[in-house]
Amino acid sequence: MSYTLLLRHCGQLLTLAGPTAARPLAGPAQASWAVIPDGYVACSGARIVALGPMAELDETQVTPATRVVDAAGRVVLPGLVECHTHLVFGGNRAAEFQRKLQGETYLDILASGGGILSTVRATRAAPEAELLDNALHHLTGFRRYGVTTLEAKSGYGLEAETELRLLRVAREAGRRQPVRVVPTFLGAHVPGPEYRGRPAEYLQMLVQDVLPQLNPVEVPFVDIFCEEGAFSVAESRDFLTRAQQLGFGLKIHAEQLHELGGCEMAAALGAVSLDHADYLTPEAAARIADQTQGHTVAVLLPLVPLFLRQERYAPGRAFIDAGLPVAVSTDFNPGSCPSKNLWLALSMACLKMGLTPREALAAVTINAAWAIGQQRECGSLAPGKRADLLVLDVATAEEIPYWLGENPVRHVIIGGELLEDKA
Ligand code: NIG
Ligand code: FE
Repeated sequence: MSYTLLLRHCGQLLTLAGPTAARPLAGPAQASWAVIPDGYVACSGARIVALGPMAELDETQVTPATRVVDAAGRVVLPGLVECHTHLVFGGNRAAEFQRKLQGETYLDILASGGGILSTVRATRAAPEAELLDNALHHLTGFRRYGVTTLEAKSGYGLEAETELRLLRVAREAGRRQPVRVVPTFLGAHVPGPEYRGRPAEYLQMLVQDVLPQLNPVEVPFVDIFCEEGAFSVAESRDFLTRAQQLGFGLKIHAEQLHELGGCEMAAALGAVSLDHADYLTPEAAARIADQTQGHTVAVLLPLVPLFLRQERYAPGRAFIDAGLPVAVSTDFNPGSCPSKNLWLALSMACLKMGLTPREALAAVTINAAWAIGQQRECGSLAPGKRADLLVLDVATAEEIPYWLGENPVRHVIIGGELLEDKA
């Protein structure tokens, strides 16, 4: 099969292909994926068909029709997988940023009717076309940072009709541009304002009025925020159990601000990911790794404590040592992380959570793909996977977290198409 696209002279080809493709990379395997010096990647249409050292390139498959991109000794790796965002929302919370700088906490602001609830007001009031424009604007930003697959949660409608609208917008945004969008239903973000003080009744409404209208093929995951001021562990368990019975994969926001036990509860149900986990202990992480046989991923969000001015960061180093696979994401949203810079999140995971550069790279690629059920499509370089690739303006993997806050992306290739070209 002749090549339609060839990336050659990749100084370091970071394959992110570890010792097993059967589960997320955990423990020592999170860092032990293959790097090919002076490598190439060949694609046919939207798929990778071959990769290896330049010395083994099959020149007979390179034709005048092959688009050749010379990486000239730079690092090449799979497109980033952003596995936790709240992509679709109206307005912004710049005013609350000021309140936070004056000392109010995240939960204080939420309890006063602000926080998530202020974005809910702005989102309900926004026309669908405006929500779509905003989502497309943010997706363009993500793509420039090298994100090629992105999870997008609902959760700023908190009523049946608006939640369905947000999922529609996420799917439409995915169709209108090249970054692949994987929608998640987070109607259980906090109880809707009409259900203040009645969280169980609110969840009952979601089970009766919204879940039956969703198709798990189109919206594969259901998520819930298990926290003081949101939903208890028992409420979260009941809700996730109902979602599971309807065929949805499960996710949870848990142990963000308190150690309630949400992560262990969701892991016991077979959740694909446990997100935030700043208050998850290494002991609980070891129990989870054991119980799930390394199939549940902890999604760490280091830009959130930074932006909320909190000292506590998830003990990522201890999680990896305990055998729990770790992914890293921005948590892009208008309240706790208005940043799309997944490279900065990667650096912060090294600086504040103790990940090594290689572990952190697996956390934003293959383990992130596992966290959204996309491991067969993306997250590592192997024949048959989507041709989602990045050329970076660095010469070694270790340089990636070092250039703090910089966007190292030179080229973005999605589905075999060269999109960003800073050359
Ligand atoms: O993941 N923790 C709950 N939800 C979001 C923040 C949402 C918001 O503040 O608007 C998060 O941090
Ligand atoms: Fe979140």
